[in-house]
Amino acid sequence: MSGPPRIVKPTASALTEACKILKAGGLVAIPTETVYGLAGDATNDRAVAAIFAAKSRPQFNPLIAHVHNLRLAMRLAEFGPLAQRLALKFWPGPLTLVLRRRAPSPLSLLLSAGLETVALRMPGHGVARALIGLYGRPLAAPSANRSGRISATSAEDVAEELGAGVDLILDGGPSQLGIESTVVDLSRETEGERPMLLRPGAVTEDDLVEILGEIDRPKAGDPLRSPGQMESHYAPARPLRLEARSVGAQEALIAFGPQPPTGAGLTLNLSETGDLTEAAAHLFAYLRQADASGLTAIAVMPIPETGLGQAINDRLRRAAHPR
Ligand code: TXA
Ligand code: MG
Repeated sequence: MSGPPRIVKPTASALTEACKILKAGGLVAIPTETVYGLAGDATNDRAVAAIFAAKSRPQFNPLIAHVHNLRLAMRLAEFGPLAQRLALKFWPGPLTLVLRRRAPSPLSLLLSAGLETVALRMPGHGVARALIGLYGRPLAAPSANRSGRISATSAEDVAEELGAGVDLILDGGPSQLGIESTVVDLSRETEGERPMLLRPGAVTEDDLVEILGEIDRPKAGDPLRSPGQMESHYAPARPLRLEARSVGAQEALIAFGPQPPTGAGLTLNLSETGDLTEAAAHLFAYLRQADASGLTAIAVMPIPETGLGQAINDRLRRAAHPR
């Protein structure tokens, strides 16, 4: 690998080439409906190790295996009744289930970072689905950013984040949802433990509660349950402040709603109509733009803590966290 990565349209021949790269243990960036993923063969330890290296990701932080259908998923992990109901309702789509691994398993042990569980997701994006189907094996795919940085929602963002660390980038246009999947731990369902929301995401807590009844959140300082939920994440290079109601000329303002304060050096409005779905789709791209604007800091207006706002605020709090 050398030089900038190639960005190609996801034609049939590009998918065939992607499969060749995957078979050889290489890495392909893929569009999904949430964010772009850095994909490698989830059954190949060498490919999984290459993903950790390309992202500089700590090896205690496990990866999601992306699967093509529920039948195959059920060979990889133990699905209790609630896990099955969630999969039937939300797959393909932006929901990741953490379940107990079956043994023996074709999945790399490194993928699970030493845990007895595995995170599974069936993505809804046509290109991701087509590639997984054609390849015929699950793909490990974390978000296609360097560890701790802002997630990538376009092919160009992936190239900027990972450079020569990726062999090929399939360009599916801007990510439709723009925020990562919701992660729910149901690995102790058969012991009667309540489902645990490890990461708020594109499937909202209200959507989950409809099926699950109740859902817990990990207690602070329970690193084994959610190894990826570091307090600092999605971090721009510039300092970021939240709940901004006024703004200075040296700041880039990430606004929300019809009446943002005036005076910012740059204003990027997540949604003028106050629509949270539109706001989520713009979030990471605007954080990148604000960060690259040359202004000294980023200010973000308050976002309501309802529906998708919970996932947006989760990302913003981590982006603002001191590091
Ligand atoms: O939307 C998404 O989920 C994107 C697209 C590409 O599919 N992927 C993604 O992957 O966000 P990543 O690696 O950036 O985030 C996966 C999250 C991390 O917080 C990780 O710690 C958690 O899932 N995770 C993975 N396996 C786990 C496991 N066995 N137990 C607990 N948490 C797990
Ligand atoms: Mg990530």
